[in-house]
Formats: sequence, structure tokens, C-alpha cells
Amino acid sequence: MSKENFLGRSLVSILDYGKDDYLTIMEVAKHFEANPVQNILSGKVIATLFFEPSTRTRLSFESAVNKLNGKIIGFTDASTSSVKKGESLKDTIQTVANYSDLIVMRHPIEGSARYASEVSKVPVVNAGDGANQHPTQTLLDLYSILKTQNTLDNLEITLVGDLKYGRTVHSLIMAMSHFNPKFNLVSPPTLKLPDEYKLFLKEKNIPFAEFENITDTIKTTDILYVTRIQKERFSDPIEYEKVKNSYVLRNEMLEGTKDNLRVLHPLPRVNEISTDVDSNPKAYYFQQALNGVYVRQAIIALILGLI
Ligand code: CP
Repeated sequence: MSKENFLGRSLVSILDYGKDDYLTIMEVAKHFEANPVQNILSGKVIATLFFEPSTRTRLSFESAVNKLNGKIIGFTDASTSSVKKGESLKDTIQTVANYSDLIVMRHPIEGSARYASEVSKVPVVNAGDGANQHPTQTLLDLYSILKTQNTLDNLEITLVGDLKYGRTVHSLIMAMSHFNPKFNLVSPPTLKLPDEYKLFLKEKNIPFAEFENITDTIKTTDILYVTRIQKERFSDPIEYEKVKNSYVLRNEMLEGTKDNLRVLHPLPRVNEISTDVDSNPKAYYFQQALNGVYVRQAIIALILGLI
């Protein structure tokens, strides 16, 4: 386990790190799950810059920092910052880097996190850049898969919903590529996984197939990873209306599925998982969101060299 690999480095893409690094984060997250309240961030300031809405990512980062006795600065709405006056992302990042030890940023533009990391003197953690990547979500997804399956290896993973714009899906495919998965891709025809990710899977000899119905693959699935149709990424509202109710997972659809199957969802959900699933022991999405606190504690502590 090499913790040194994280020291002072930004986390922009899940591909910035490899299999051993993911396993290191899993180990450290396990440590924080057992000991979530510590004093290790005393004197440290973490900036959370959210140019897009968030509940889980921002608040779990802030919960993670608070439990480790660090301080938070930042904004949840860029219109309350000098961005509103026309300040550039570069100037904003360079300024906030003067005030903080690490920047967590969500931004609607793909590549913005990479750019921020290049102009910042402190590490930048990508909390989602447009439809591109959401690496910390992926790490908590890996932790959730590991906790529920006792392994990351040789799993059949069914990805459901908006595979075109769903950044969590894109990062998860790349991370799981290290663990010999089989992917079932369930989406409306207009929201299929983009070719670049299919090419990535082909190059790695990872089996995948495309389907239009959840029931096509649910019986053999280990992880059912459901995603929201990403309304905010559609340029034409009529196109969103056509697909918005493509999938609804209902409780009865889980009958006859494998005992170890767990339903994951990065959340927020709109209506793609019926609330009658929530009480099913196979529903794991709220525990998954809780796991985000421990994984984000691990990421911050490793990057700042505090563990
Ligand atoms: N999973 C996730 O990114 O949720 P939020 O948009 O609420 O942060």
C-alpha cells in the first residue's frame, strides 16, 4: 500500500490513479469508517467551490472535513462570488488557492477540473466536471461494491439509464476495468454509452452488451447501478421529455434476483427507482451515500499526507 503516491496530487480523472491506489483508498476509508471523528485536519482549510448544484458530494465532503476538525470555505452558488462580475476560473482558483490547502470543485464544463489543477498551487479534487468524470463518486462506488460483495473481482454489473451523459458511469467503467467485470449497458437508444468508452472496454477485452430493458439482465446481475436521466445536459427539452421516464425499477422486479445483488444509485433519484424498493434489503443507495463521507476523508487525508 503506497500512500506516498497521493501526496500533494490532484484527483481529476479516475485514470490519474491505478488499481493499487484504489485499494489503498479502500483500506484508508475502512479505517475512517471505524474512526470517523479525529483531529488530523486541525489548522487545515478545505475550499468547496460548487458551480453546479449538489447535495451529497458537497455535504459529504464538508461532513468529512468537519469530523476531522478541519475548516471549510467556499460557495454553493457561483453567482454569490466574483464570477458574477466576470472573474475568470483561473483567477478564482489562484485566489482561493491562497486561502486553502485543498480545493474541491464541481463545474459544468468538461475539462474544467484539469484546467483548475494546472493553475492551482494546491491540489484540486474534481467533484464532477460536466458529463466527463466524477472520480470521488466512483471511489465511493468501489467502496460500496467491495463492502457488499466482499470483492471487486469478476462481477456482473448492469448500468441503467443515462449512459451518455452520466459522468458517474463513465468513471465507474474505467475504474472497474481493473477487476475483470462484465458490463450490461441498459439505456434508451439515444442515451447509449459514448463510443470512446466502448472503445476503452474493447481495448481492455472487457465483455459488454447493450440492452433496452432492465429485466433483460437483472437475474444474473451482481450490481444494478441505476442512474438518473441528466435533464441539465439536454440542449433540447423535447428530447428530455421523450426519455425521462424510460426506466422505473420496481420492487417486484427484484424477485428471483441473486441474493448478493445490490441496487446502487449515485443519487439524486427522480423517479427511476420506485420508493417501494427502499425497504428491500437489496437497496443500498443511501448507505452508498454514507460511504462517501469515509471515502472523502480518505482522499483528503491521503492527498494532504495526514495518514
Ligand atoms: N452523487 C452526486 O454527485 O450527488 P450530488 O449531485 O447531490 O452531489
